[in-house]
Amino acid sequence: MSPSQSLLLLLAAASLGLASCSNARLRRRLELREIEEPQSVFPLIENRTDLDVQGALQEALDLQVGFNGDYGSGILRVESLDPSAGVVFEGAAGRRTNNSDPSDTPTTPDMQFEIASIGKMFTAVVMMQLVDEGKVSLDDPITEYLVLGNISEVGVVGDDPSVGEGGGFVIPESLHRIGNTTYTANITVRMTLDHRSGVQNYWDLDTFLGDYEREADRYWLGAETLIYPAEVEAHFPPGTPGRYEYTDTAFMLAGLIIEKVEGKPLSQSYSERIFGPVGMNNTYSQYREDNPNPDGEVARYAIEGGLGLIDMRATPRNTAEWAGGAMASDASDLCAFLKALFSGRLMSPESLEAMTNFEPTDEEGVSYGLGINKRVYGAGSIIGHSGYGRSFAYGIPEYGLVMAGTLNNHENSDHLFQSSVLEVLNKYYATTEP
Ligand SMILES: *[C@@H]1O[C@H](CO)[C@@H](O)[C@H](O)[C@H]1NC(C)=O
Ligand SMILES: *[C@@H]1O[C@H](CO)[C@@H](O)[C@H](O)[C@H]1NC(C)=O
Ligand SMILES: *[C@@H]1O[C@H](CO)[C@@H](O)[C@H](O)[C@H]1NC(C)=O
Ligand SMILES: *[C@@H]1O[C@H](CO)[C@@H](O)[C@H](O)[C@H]1NC(C)=O
Ligand SMILES: *[C@@H]1O[C@H](CO)[C@@H](O)[C@H](O)[C@H]1NC(C)=O
Ligand SMILES: *[C@@H]1O[C@H](CO)[C@@H](O)[C@H](O)[C@H]1NC(C)=O
Repeated sequence: MSPSQSLLLLLAAASLGLASCSNARLRRRLELREIEEPQSVFPLIENRTDLDVQGALQEALDLQVGFNGDYGSGILRVESLDPSAGVVFEGAAGRRTNNSDPSDTPTTPDMQFEIASIGKMFTAVVMMQLVDEGKVSLDDPITEYLVLGNISEVGVVGDDPSVGEGGGFVIPESLHRIGNTTYTANITVRMTLDHRSGVQNYWDLDTFLGDYEREADRYWLGAETLIYPAEVEAHFPPGTPGRYEYTDTAFMLAGLIIEKVEGKPLSQSYSERIFGPVGMNNTYSQYREDNPNPDGEVARYAIEGGLGLIDMRATPRNTAEWAGGAMASDASDLCAFLKALFSGRLMSPESLEAMTNFEPTDEEGVSYGLGINKRVYGAGSIIGHSGYGRSFAYGIPEYGLVMAGTLNNHENSDHLFQSSVLEVLNKYYATTEP
């Protein structure tokens, strides 16, 4: 083993060690919370003068997937916004279900993977389109669209999933409560997308996780996830200046508002407004729609919490993810989405500006807009979203590029990988430009 390889292994071991010290159940929300200073993550290229960008990116991907062990395919695609430059790189590493099984199908760049919270960008895009159409205003209180009720009334209106995937428009009045004061009516539409409402994230609550882990075959209606945060105190009053708390709960409210305004299932709005027009033929809402490419997906394992090592596609329990992100896609579709978003084809310039108005979060180097974040690494900045399981979809403004893919194993670190990609690109553009 060369010294640089052992350095990489040490770095990886350090990051895996950190991850396993934390409460496994909290890892659901860690995707935006692990932004410790990424080190110089790809020293292998440091002294190269003959940099081949494809070879170096494949090497970075292979190294990261090597840290996954048996579980987790790696996929990366880098594409230019400039059509004449096209695809800069596409590659894959590992195998579809078990990296250590030589008889298993090798992962290919066109395979589908779970994108999880990347879907928050889709929810935000649909909402911004509704704003452009005058159907919703970002400053409206959510009570303009949803009805406050008690907990026993939540999720009973639309038990038939065809009525809506959210399960009706009654939300618990106590969803946002601090002491004896309820602030649920103070939450605005904007706060459903920017993590500044202060509502608890149901993925952080043991009451929810207990039911989620126990009930493998449960089909969750979106609103049912609101019951758990409604039983506990919120973090801070909605819109408290300078406060931020990442929460899928607020995105559930966004999903309900979209269903209320559109009168159709949320998954249909994603398809009609984004997947269809952008030509994302390999993207679908898991469990709620049929996969257009039934054999296209790589396995996705949970290797944490009470679930043990199971393929998450095998049970419908992940319907508990919904407007916060519950789709499978592929790297090409995600790049097509990012190109459409950043080139202004999905919403008005005013809405795109509102969506990408990044404000500081509680994490160094991370700022958040509406369903989209900006990360500043030593090697450069990226704009987009990551998802549980280390899926990622980001624009790289400095180079007019987009990148998407997955490491498909939440124990891995997407920050290190994303920094590696930036380091390769920096080196490449530094050596190829006059
Ligand atoms: C690159 O070259 C410098 C100067 O020779 C050396 O100190 C450094 O260790 C090299 N880096 C790698 C990753 O080989
Ligand atoms: C993965 O493959 C390795 C090597 O064939 C095998 O030892 C291991 O049991 C496999 N894991 C699963 C979950 O099938
Ligand atoms: C909750 O709503 C139901 C149905 O309207 C009603 O029967 C019940 O009394 C309410 N409970 C509370 C605590 O308000
Ligand atoms: C909250 O309400 C309870 C019951 O009405 C009351 O006993 C308590 O003093 C209130 N607490 C505060 C901080 O107002
Ligand atoms: C919440 O809304 C009420 C009623 O509009 C208002 O009086 C109160 O100041 C608001 N509180 C916060 C924290 O925004
Ligand atoms: C998606 O499918 C439609 C309808 O079959 C087709 O016209 C379009 O070219 C496809 N888009 C891509 C990107 O493959």
